[in-house]
Amino acid sequence: MTEKYEKISRQSLKIISQIAYDVSGIILSEKKEDLIFSRLNKRLRENKLSSFEEYCILIQSNPDERLQMIASLTTNVTAFYREGHHFQYLSKLIKSTFINRIKNGEELRIWSAACSSGEEAYSAALTVADVLMTLPIARIKILGTDIDNSMLDLSKKGIYSVEEKYSIPLEIFNKFCIEKQNRFTFKKEILEKLRFKSLNLIAEWPFESKFHAIFCRNVAIYFDKVTREKLWSRLAKRLHVGGELYIGHSERIPNPDILGLRPVGLNSYKKVK
Ligand SMILES: C[S@@+](CC[C@H](N)C(=O)[O-])C[C@H]1O[C@@H](n2cnc3c(N)ncnc32)[C@H](O)[C@@H]1O
Repeated sequence: MTEKYEKISRQSLKIISQIAYDVSGIILSEKKEDLIFSRLNKRLRENKLSSFEEYCILIQSNPDERLQMIASLTTNVTAFYREGHHFQYLSKLIKSTFINRIKNGEELRIWSAACSSGEEAYSAALTVADVLMTLPIARIKILGTDIDNSMLDLSKKGIYSVEEKYSIPLEIFNKFCIEKQNRFTFKKEILEKLRFKSLNLIAEWPFESKFHAIFCRNVAIYFDKVTREKLWSRLAKRLHVGGELYIGHSERIPNPDILGLRPVGLNSYKKVK
């Protein structure tokens, strides 16, 4: 028998929306009531609670549950080579702008901010490895971050179902991937380029470094205008001059020139000053 919970009250909705916004920047409008109700019902069950009022008390005192709540309310949809033009831009960027610096020993750094289960970060690593394979000594570091620790666990494992392999260009798959029993992973030379860390994009970032390319795709759609614009500005500061920022298909940076960015392709911006 499925358990039935009382409908969510205005007051509970208000508390949940405010906490979601304070913790992660995500905006839950009134229209999202059904989504909140259905997604958080599972959290109630897991915590053996019988009302949203009790759940509100729990999230007010329990930081781990707040993160679980954010994970339930956002989507983790992603794919290898999603919005594939960005990986073509990345390949071109390395060949046209950074190759000599890399040859001279500069470490190539790429950030997949909001990496979900890791496909975006691995796609960047495969792209880079393919361009730089004649330079085996090239130093490459790909950082993947997300607020959702269960997604980070999947990213760290780096093992995916064979259905996902069809999104990876065959030639690249054959060069850098290893298939085993309906699953696949990556050769050591790819795995060792990646690091995955927990990071909330609206909180402090615990590193000072700059990147040659940043992927921040399909996460800013959850934020309000103020949070989004602050994020674009912070990301722009983390790019090397000449580096590129790739954002999601329904996202746009309204004032790129103020941030020292120039649009250079579909949902892509180059740091020019
Ligand atoms: C739809 S996925 C995007 C995955 C990938 N970037 C892509 O475009 O395929 C959105 C991700 O944003 C993450 N997220 C939501 N709010 C976040 C925040 N404040 N800081 C970091 N990650 C966040 C979610 O956990 C989720 O994994």
